[in-house]
Amino acid sequence: MKKIVLSLLALMMVLVSYAPTQVKAKGKTYEIGVAIYQYNDNFMTLFRNELASYFEELGKKDGNTYNLEFQDGKNDQATQTEQLNNFIAQGKDLLIANLVDPTGADQVILSAQNANIPVVLINREPDASTMKLWPGKTTYVGVDARQSGVYQGEIIAGLKNHGDINGDGVVKYIMIQGDAGNVDAEQRTKYSVETLNKTIKTEMLGEAQRGNWDQAKGQEIAANALSQYGDDLEVIFSNNDGMALGAVQAINGAGRKINKDIYVVGVDALPEVVELLGKGEFTGTVLNDHFNQSHTAAEVAIKLLNGEDVSPYFWHDYVKATKPEDAELKRLDYREETIEEYQTRIKEAYGE
Ligand code: GAL
Repeated sequence: MKKIVLSLLALMMVLVSYAPTQVKAKGKTYEIGVAIYQYNDNFMTLFRNELASYFEELGKKDGNTYNLEFQDGKNDQATQTEQLNNFIAQGKDLLIANLVDPTGADQVILSAQNANIPVVLINREPDASTMKLWPGKTTYVGVDARQSGVYQGEIIAGLKNHGDINGDGVVKYIMIQGDAGNVDAEQRTKYSVETLNKTIKTEMLGEAQRGNWDQAKGQEIAANALSQYGDDLEVIFSNNDGMALGAVQAINGAGRKINKDIYVVGVDALPEVVELLGKGEFTGTVLNDHFNQSHTAAEVAIKLLNGEDVSPYFWHDYVKATKPEDAELKRLDYREETIEEYQTRIKEAYGE
C-alpha cells in the first residue's frame, strides 16, 4: 500500500513538473497586429504596455503564444493604413486597431473581412454604422466619452464655490481640446460645460483651442490665456491630463496657486496627475481605465481567435478622481451591448 502511495506521489510530481511544458506543447501560436495611432501619447503608452503584458500573462495561463506586432501610426492615417494592409497581407490572425481617423474604419474592416481577420477597435470610438459592417467579428472596447465630460463638470460643480473663485456668479474658463473630429475631444468639451451649467453660469474666455492631447501645446495655450486674462481665469478644462500637465507648468510659471486661485481638471488619471492630486496640487481628473480596457480587449480578442462571435460593444466606466485612491486600478466586469441597446441607452441618458 505504502509503495502504491509512493509511486502515485512520484507520478504526480513528474506530472506537475512537466505540466507547463505539456500545455505549451499543445498550445497554439497566434499572430496579432496592433496598430496604435501614435506612440508619442502618454495615455496610449499606458494602454499599449498593459495590453502587451496582459497577453503575456494570458499566454502563460492558457499555454498559447500570442505574438503581438505593434506599429506606430505616427498620427498619420496614410502611414497607418499601410501598416494595417501589411498586417492583412501577412495573414495575421487578428487585428487590434487604435485608428488615427476612425471615420476611415470602414475600409479597414472590409479589407480585414475579405481576408477573414477579426478586428478589435480600441480608444477611438467609430460610428455605429461601422460596427454593422461585419457583425460578430468586429468589436469596439472602450469607455463612453460623454461620461468623462459629465464627471469633469461634476468635479468643478462639487467644489464649495463651484469654481467661482471671485464670487461674481459666473465661472470663467478656458477649454483645451484634443484633436479635431475626435469623439473624446468633442464629448468632453460639450458635456463638461453643460454639466457645470446645471449648477452655475459659465463663460468661456476666448475660443476653445486645440492642444492635440500634447503637453507642450497645453502649456502654451494656458500660458497665453493666463497672461491675457489674468485673475479673471478661474477654471482650466483640459480634454486630457497630458495637456493639463502643461497647464500646471504654465500656472506655476505665472505664480498662481492651483485649488486656491485657479482650478484645473483633466481626464486619464496619469500617474503624474495622481501624484499631484495626493499633494492637493491638481483639482481633479477622470480615470480613463486603460487597465480594464486593455484586459477586456485581450479577452475579447481571444474569444475571436477561438472562432466565437462577439458583441459590437464592450464598455467600461470612467471614474471620477479627486484623490489618489479614486484612481486605483482593479479588474472590473465589462458591459456588453448590441448597437440598438447602445443607441437606446444614449438616447435616454443624453437625448442624442
Ligand atoms: C483619449 C485620451 C487622450 C489621448 C486620446 C488619443 O481617450 O484621454 O489622452 O490618449 O485618447 O486618442
